Amino acid sequence: MADRTVTVTDNTTGKKVDLPILDGTNGPSVIDIGKLYKELGYFTFDPGFVSTGSCNSKITFIDGDIGLLRYRGYPIEQLAEKSTYLEVCYLLLYGELPTKQEFDAFESRQRMHTLLDEKMRRFYLGFHNNSHPMAMMVATVGALSAFYHDQIDVHDAENREIAAKRLIAKMPTMAAWVYKYTVGQPFIYPQNNLDYVSNFLHMMFGLPSMDYKPSPVFVKAMDVILILHADHEQNASTSTVRLAGSSDANPYAALSAGISSLWGPAHGGANEAVINMLEDIVQSDNDVNYYVDRAKDKNSGFRLMGFGHRVYKNYDPRAKIIREVCHELLAELGDDNPNKPLFDTAMELERIALSDDYFVERKLYPNVDFYSGIILRAMGIPMNMFTVIFALARTVGWISHWKEHMSDPAAKIGRPRQLYTGSDERNYVEINKR
Ligand code: CMC
Repeated sequence: MADRTVTVTDNTTGKKVDLPILDGTNGPSVIDIGKLYKELGYFTFDPGFVSTGSCNSKITFIDGDIGLLRYRGYPIEQLAEKSTYLEVCYLLLYGELPTKQEFDAFESRQRMHTLLDEKMRRFYLGFHNNSHPMAMMVATVGALSAFYHDQIDVHDAENREIAAKRLIAKMPTMAAWVYKYTVGQPFIYPQNNLDYVSNFLHMMFGLPSMDYKPSPVFVKAMDVILILHADHEQNASTSTVRLAGSSDANPYAALSAGISSLWGPAHGGANEAVINMLEDIVQSDNDVNYYVDRAKDKNSGFRLMGFGHRVYKNYDPRAKIIREVCHELLAELGDDNPNKPLFDTAMELERIALSDDYFVERKLYPNVDFYSGIILRAMGIPMNMFTVIFALARTVGWISHWKEHMSDPAAKIGRPRQLYTGSDERNYVEINKR
């Protein structure tokens, strides 16, 4: 029996059950309701998992009330300032920061896996010209299982390890190739002497006909974006990966399910909505106050995109970091870049909203999507690629959670119950009598 329990009493029958309270390292404790059905004959009901923990995890901790995010215990601020995305990948996957030797070995192993099977090229060529890049990502990541079917034994730790490395290493190549396909440019192969982010930018923006050298400011900005999006505990897409993987589906199929979940505008698509809104404001002769007033008017049905957050009721810690990067990047780009009016509007909106009582009282700060959309636009990345970049960053989070689930001896297939509200039993009626 746990030290602390909660007693649930059925007021109809008088039956009682003591449910153990489990404490984590940080965050609210949980009530273990596992024996509720057996003892009292009830399921619990919590659509949207508002009060329900779906697993225990050692990977990421969020405290939305104070605006805190930690990967494996390390504050996101320290990682964004001092680490690199690839080092964060190691941390999320293995739980500890690597020594120099461990990192070098990890990095060189990653570099060995950047190429796609050459037959994958034909797979891309089958897509319609104007296919959405996320549609291609769902399909091509799922297709990897057809190329590695001899190494997808999910109960073999070595097979899980190789799948993790392959996915992290190949994701930049796959993301860049869907972009190249949509713009009708030749696929650019990875160059393994480049670091992870430079290699990605090289495959995105390089051409066989001319040299491409990514600007160090872009490389740093992209590295920070990837770090900030690498994990966010049991969000919709990560929970999807865990649930898909819980049936022992192979990791490529489970990640493809996660990418599908991320695609939805309520999850990965918000930074695209920010740019659409900013473009509307610019086209309206830059009437920022009109949009702020509309957002404050409950009858308008309009909200400022990129403001507010379901979990963070304080400044989103990722937004604080990315705001700095965004300001540095815009300063570096200077006045003669074509997106200047859009950026000016964004900065004006940020200034007004941060000082307006409506937003201050409701703790509606700009969120990570407000700035990531602007940064990606500044780098010349088209809007339909924004969620692909998110998927690239989140791959390590998904695969770390999948590995955690698969290596837990107590893990079970995920199988929620329901409150059935359909028809009671009724008899079949012949078609001519209905
Ligand atoms: N603009 C204007 N008013 C807002 C906004 C906004 N963006 N967001 C919330 N409010 C108001 C809302 O009307 C309500 O006012 P009142 O208390 O007077 O009724 C109050 O603030 C609380 O709103 P809520 O809907 O209860 O807040 P929520 O936590 O359920 O919603 C949200 C969070 C992100 C859905 C919402 O803030 C929103 O729609 N934001 C705009 C879309 C956006 O930027 N989404 C990206 C979120 S980050 C994604 C990620 O981390 O992956």
